[in-house]
Amino acid sequence: MALYICTNIPLYMTNPIKGFSKLSKKAKIEWIVNQYFDNKEEAIALLESYWHDEAKTQQLHDDFIENTLSNFYTPYGVAPNFLIDGKMLAIPMAIEESSVVAAASKSASFWLQRGGFKTTIQATTKIGHVHFMYKGDVQKLANFFEQIKTQFWSDTQDITANMEARGGGILKIDLKDKSAELANYFQLEARFETCDSMGANFINSCLEQFAKTLQNAVNQSDLFSDAEKQIQIVMCILSNYTPQCVVKAEVSCPIAQLDEGNGVSPEEFVEKFSRAVRIAEIEPYRATTHNKGIMNGIDAVVVATGNDYRAIEAACHTYAAKDGKYQSLTHCEVKNGIFKFWIEVPLALGTVGGLTSLHPMVKFSLDLLGRPNAQQLMSIIAASGLAQNFAALRALVTTGIQKGHMKMHLLNILNQLEATDTEKEQIVDHFKNNTVTHSAAVAKFCEIRGVKNPESLSKNA
Ligand code: MEV
Repeated sequence: MALYICTNIPLYMTNPIKGFSKLSKKAKIEWIVNQYFDNKEEAIALLESYWHDEAKTQQLHDDFIENTLSNFYTPYGVAPNFLIDGKMLAIPMAIEESSVVAAASKSASFWLQRGGFKTTIQATTKIGHVHFMYKGDVQKLANFFEQIKTQFWSDTQDITANMEARGGGILKIDLKDKSAELANYFQLEARFETCDSMGANFINSCLEQFAKTLQNAVNQSDLFSDAEKQIQIVMCILSNYTPQCVVKAEVSCPIAQLDEGNGVSPEEFVEKFSRAVRIAEIEPYRATTHNKGIMNGIDAVVVATGNDYRAIEAACHTYAAKDGKYQSLTHCEVKNGIFKFWIEVPLALGTVGGLTSLHPMVKFSLDLLGRPNAQQLMSIIAASGLAQNFAALRALVTTGIQKGHMKMHLLNILNQLEATDTEKEQIVDHFKNNTVTHSAAVAKFCEIRGVKNPESLSKNA
């Protein structure tokens, strides 16, 4: 039996290593496989098999993060036929989940016949804070802040010059008294326009300078007592919540155009669809899954275009709860015989800087999209989220989600069984008219192979 110390971690896994990051990549791999793998050769071979053939490209990936051992592949697909604001696009999607690209493509083709996606950028402002503690006269601080306000702009001129030349910069700085919620807690809340860059570095650099400016100005002023001068800067950081960087995407058509000849009348479809949206508006359990589906469409394009999907996820979910209860990011209405379905989401994106000029596949994605600016990318990604949600709801309220999903999942099952191309073709053909389940797929595979069960054929089955 393995020796354990208080948690369930076996003792051999607790050996710390010093200076791991300084080791060469080869030495890192050796240490890892020696510590954690029985079959060391197999582990090394696997890591190496995922290296890029070209040393230069591999080095680029090695340098994106720290302690890189290998690459972790995610499929890169494309959903064509998106008509967005009058422009035809094929949207790149990096995602591991089957059905997502198919759903986006299906929705895109559906709405292509009905006028496509129309978007509006509602705002592009980003926010950051200097969080600080001040134990003193609040009015004195407020008056002083107004007196020195312009200094925040002048002290950051080195940082803002380029951004201003591009039409962006610092828009507004406010002093916020948060002491009612946390004793002595204040903020400098700043608003920024960062044009086509996501702007995190720009914003954080400005904020760190604001903190210095504030502290220096208070220190040098005769207005404050020694105790009041003890301002403590807690942190300077942008907020990933961007309720003032929002895009709306919508689709609409006369109800009669929702007839797909599948036995469900347009009126019945609209009723079922609208009810599903309404449920996601009032029921957080459903809203979470509903929005998860939207994020399938959003994240896949965010990743493919080199943007930060964790930031986008965080912002979207906070936005979904902005009215005090977590709810759907999409909404629909029927007015004068017109069905309208829309999404409103905060998307702080960049099309310059960061990975956008480094990662070859990101460059490819941006080329594929016709080199969009940040606002155009907001529109594209919002449309992708809306398309995804439309496809999911359409399936959920008509055929059910599993029919399409299992058809797409069938290939994963067959790959697990190590089916040959011919076997795959035969089995996919069989399931065109039969319900896919895991056991039915395995049974059909066994029948074709002429075996009782797949264990004898494949270790992975
Ligand atoms: C699965 O990844 C996403 C769905 O669950 C979304 C939804 O239920 O709306 C199908």
